[in-house]
This record gives sequence, C-alpha cells and structure tokens, in this order.
Amino acid sequence: MRRNIFYSLFFIATLVSAYYSFRRNSKEQETAMLARIEGMDTSAWVGSSLYQIPVETENGNLIRYGYELIAHTSKYLGPKGTVQQTTNGMNCQNCHLEAGTKPWGLNYGSVYSTYPRFRERSGSLETIYKRVNDCMERSLNGKALDTNSKEMKAIYAYIKWLGDEVPKGEKVKGSGIEILPYLKTAASITEGKISYVQNCQSCHLSNGEGVMDSTGNMYLYPPLWGKHSYNDAAGLFQLSKLAGFIKNNMPNGINYHAPSLSIQDAWNIAAYINAQPRPSKDKSKDWPLLATKPVDYPFGPYADNFSEQQHKFGPFEPIALAKKK
Ligand code: HEC
Ligand code: HEC
Repeated sequence: MRRNIFYSLFFIATLVSAYYSFRRNSKEQETAMLARIEGMDTSAWVGSSLYQIPVETENGNLIRYGYELIAHTSKYLGPKGTVQQTTNGMNCQNCHLEAGTKPWGLNYGSVYSTYPRFRERSGSLETIYKRVNDCMERSLNGKALDTNSKEMKAIYAYIKWLGDEVPKGEKVKGSGIEILPYLKTAASITEGKISYVQNCQSCHLSNGEGVMDSTGNMYLYPPLWGKHSYNDAAGLFQLSKLAGFIKNNMPNGINYHAPSLSIQDAWNIAAYINAQPRPSKDKSKDWPLLATKPVDYPFGPYADNFSEQQHKFGPFEPIALAKKK
C-alpha cells in the first residue's frame, strides 16, 4: 500500500515536471519563432480560409461552392466533370494557390477591389465575370461559363467574400505575381532544361504532362505543357509571369520568404517550359492597341522593331527602354 502511494506520488511528480519542461520548451520555441517572424516582412495580404466561410446561410453555402469550384475545378468542369465537361482538367487552385489566398501565389486579394477594370488585352472594361472567363478560355483552355449559371455566381461570391475588406480601388501587397528584375541576356532554354530536370521533373515529369491522382479526375501534379496545359493566350505564356510564379512558389511548398531558386534559374526554367508545345487559341482580337503589348508578349505585330524571339525570351531591358521613349 505504502509502495503504491510512493509510486503514485512519483508518477505525479514526473508528470508535473514534464509539464513544466514542455511549457518552457514551447515558450522558447515561441520566442524563437517570433524573432524569426520579426525579421520577416509579414505585411503581405493573406486570404481568409475555408473555415471562416459563414455556415448555414444561403450566401455562405454559395461562397463554399465557389471555394470548391476554385479548389477542385476539374471534379465539376473537367473532362469527366459532374456539372459539364468544358475545361482541360486543371484546377484554378493549381495556379491561384491555396484557393487564391497565398501571397505572391496569384491570389485574389485585389480582384473585388479593382474590378470592373479597363484592360488593354481586350481593350474594354472587364467585369469579374469576364476576367474569370478569360482564365476559363485560356488557362483552362476551355469554354466560358454562362454568367447566370450557379457556378459563375458561386465563383463570384467566393472572390467577393475574399476581397470584401480591401478598400475600393486599392491593390494589396502580395496580390498577383511578383515581377522579377530582367536578366541582362536572353533567358536560356538549355540552362533551363538542366534546372528543370533537377528541381521540377520529379513531380511534373520529363514530358511535362503531370500526374493524375487516384480518382483519375484531377491532377496530383498539374501539366506544364502538352495537350492538357494552359494555351498560348494565357497569362503564364508571358515569361515574366511564369518566372515570377515559379520563383516564389515552386518547387511546390516553398513561399516568398524562402525561395529556393535564383532569379536567373526561374527565368531559364520558364523559358524551357514556354518553349514546349501547348494548345493554341485565336489571339487576333487581343491587344487592339499595339503599343500596349507587354514587352514579353510573344506574338507580333509590334509597335517596335524587336523580333518575336526577343519578345518571348528577352533580353527585355532594351525593349522596355525603347518603350519608355
Ligand atoms: C495556368 C494557370 C492559371 C489557372 C489554372 C487559372 N488562372 Fe486565373 N490567372 C492566371 C494568371 C497568370 C493571371 C494573371 C495575373 C497577372 O496578370 O498578374 C490570372 C488572373 C486571374 C484573375 C484576375 C486576377 C487579378 O488580380 O487581376 C482572376 C479573377 C482569375 N485569374 C480567375 C481564375 C479562375 C476562376 C480560374 C479557374 C476557372 C483560373 N483563374 C485559373 C493563371 C491561371
Ligand atoms: C513536389 C512536387 C513538385 C515539384 C518538385 C514542383 N512542382 Fe510545380 N506544382 C506542384 C503542384 C502540386 C502544383 C499545383 C499546386 C496546387 O494545386 O496546390 C504545381 C503547380 C505548378 C505550376 C502552375 C500550374 C501549372 O501546371 O501550370 C507551375 C507553372 C509549376 N508548378 C512549375 C514548377 C516548376 C518550374 C518546378 C521546378 C522549379 C516545379 N513546379 C516543381 C508540384 C510540384
């Protein structure tokens, strides 16, 4: 009996001491983490998460369906989609990372605050519906959604909910893609291939076509080129956008606080990827004012005398300088 009490007391003492040592350790960890964060720039916009969407209201349910469509687009709209079969099998979230909430991961922070907006690509005032359909037709190489469909209303509701608190007209820090400094020379496809094999091929494969998950209806690793990838009218077909996306987000899991590739590697890999075959779309109505074509828009005619090759792979600095004059 005495012995039992002794053991019990001993047991309790061990628990108490373990608890205090745990508290001390977690306090130390917390302090270390705070110190690390203080050195970091944490001012970029980060979107609210799925778990913050209002529950059991009609609007909350619509927002949640919008989230679903962004995160798992292919399940609903892909080649084996349950609603319709009008896209290439990619998810919006493959590019608009973490359902459009990640800093410098093509997030939707400034969409609700800056649309409707005049865009030079179409030469018109674009609504959020038009902008979403641009990505449907280009990045997802598919068909536009009916503006009155439940799916479009849900996507709109989700994008509005995410950006609702951003003041009208304001662009938050970390939205979209970071534009990297230009290289002095053209980006190198040959160097890009070497870096691609080292850093990207394990997931996106040597043929760039990615890997399907076990449902066969959604990508585990999305395609970077080939039949099921974004078409040549998509935003990522501009080298600066692809390079900026890669630098802050790939290999998958990294973020802008700790990029793993150099700026030069990011440009070179982007050049290798955009030199590969992919679907083509009619672009004859894009950029009605030639002088507004971005320096890295790879299809002529141009308002300057630089070649399509230079507009595709650089060097971009001379083009940018000529444009300023
Ligand atoms: C292959 C990559 C990719 C996919 C997939 C994709 N997008 Fe995009 N999206 C882009 C790029 C690139 C831009 C242009 C960003 C820029 O110019 O800074 C963009 C821009 C947008 C914008 C405007 C953002 C802004 O801040 O002005 C919206 C809204 C949008 N996409 C919605 C969608 C929706 C909805 C889907 C799915 C149906 C989708 N996108 C799928 C790459 C993609
Ligand atoms: C560990 C696996 C992995 C590695 C390695 C990796 N990626 Fe990705 N990549 C992904 C996943 C997964 C996504 C989609 C992210 C999502 O849906 O959340 C993605 C998305 C992308 C996208 C946007 C969607 C598309 O298919 O166009 C690009 C571009 C991309 N990766 C390029 C690269 C490049 C370049 C490298 C090498 C520097 C790389 N990735 C390395 C897993 C990986």
